[in-house]
Amino acid sequence: MPDDPFVLFHQWWDELSSASADVLPEWFERNAMTLSTSGEEGSVKSRVVLLKAVDTGFCFFTNYDSSKGEQLSKNPKAALQFFWPCFERQVRIEGIVSKTSAEFSDQYFQARPRSSQLGAIASPQSKVIDATYDLQHKVEELEKAYDGKIIPRPSNWGGYRLSPTTIEFWQGRPSRLHDRFRYVRESSVDPWSIDRLAP
Ligand SMILES: Cc1cc2nc3c(=O)[nH]c(=O)nc-3n(C[C@H](O)[C@H](O)[C@H](O)COP(=O)(O)O)c2cc1C
Repeated sequence: MPDDPFVLFHQWWDELSSASADVLPEWFERNAMTLSTSGEEGSVKSRVVLLKAVDTGFCFFTNYDSSKGEQLSKNPKAALQFFWPCFERQVRIEGIVSKTSAEFSDQYFQARPRSSQLGAIASPQSKVIDATYDLQHKVEELEKAYDGKIIPRPSNWGGYRLSPTTIEFWQGRPSRLHDRFRYVRESSVDPWSIDRLAP
């Protein structure tokens, strides 16, 4: 096992990238991960988001006013989980989430297709909307308003980075003798320790 779990994460990631289509079907989104957050009162919510960058942490983008955004503003502790069935692998990550810099979010937002940019502005993510709320019409209105112009990133939309304190790698094996290795550190400046866990 490498000393640094990011090395192993990249190794597993690269193996997915180079997998042939019969092992990893084209429709499979290897960057889809389950994000679990909890609120002040202890309620827990999970949903899928897409991993968009790995640097000192694991980055995803969303609406800051969404349900996940509200929970993260009250409790920045969160968990991520990947399941890559083609290799019988699971990665579980726990840590502290913070907003990425405005520059980082701007850069990603400007790289998105215009339709996605407009969708991010038009959708009051996680809010109850009236049955007659016409998202498509709203997007069309915005299309006209921004015709020929750069669409600025809305201030309530941007990135989060989960800085990990625990990363567990699970590798399925025959006879249920699966391998589990857990990397733990106290904080992002501390060294990692590695434990082997019973399957
Ligand atoms: C494959 C897949 C990818 C998704 N990617 C994202 C994403 O990157 N960001 C996002 O905000 N929501 C994404 N969603 C939608 C979320 O799962 C969720 O519905 C939304 O973020 C609202 O969650 P919340 O109400 O808990 O905040 C994705 C859903 C699926 C199924």
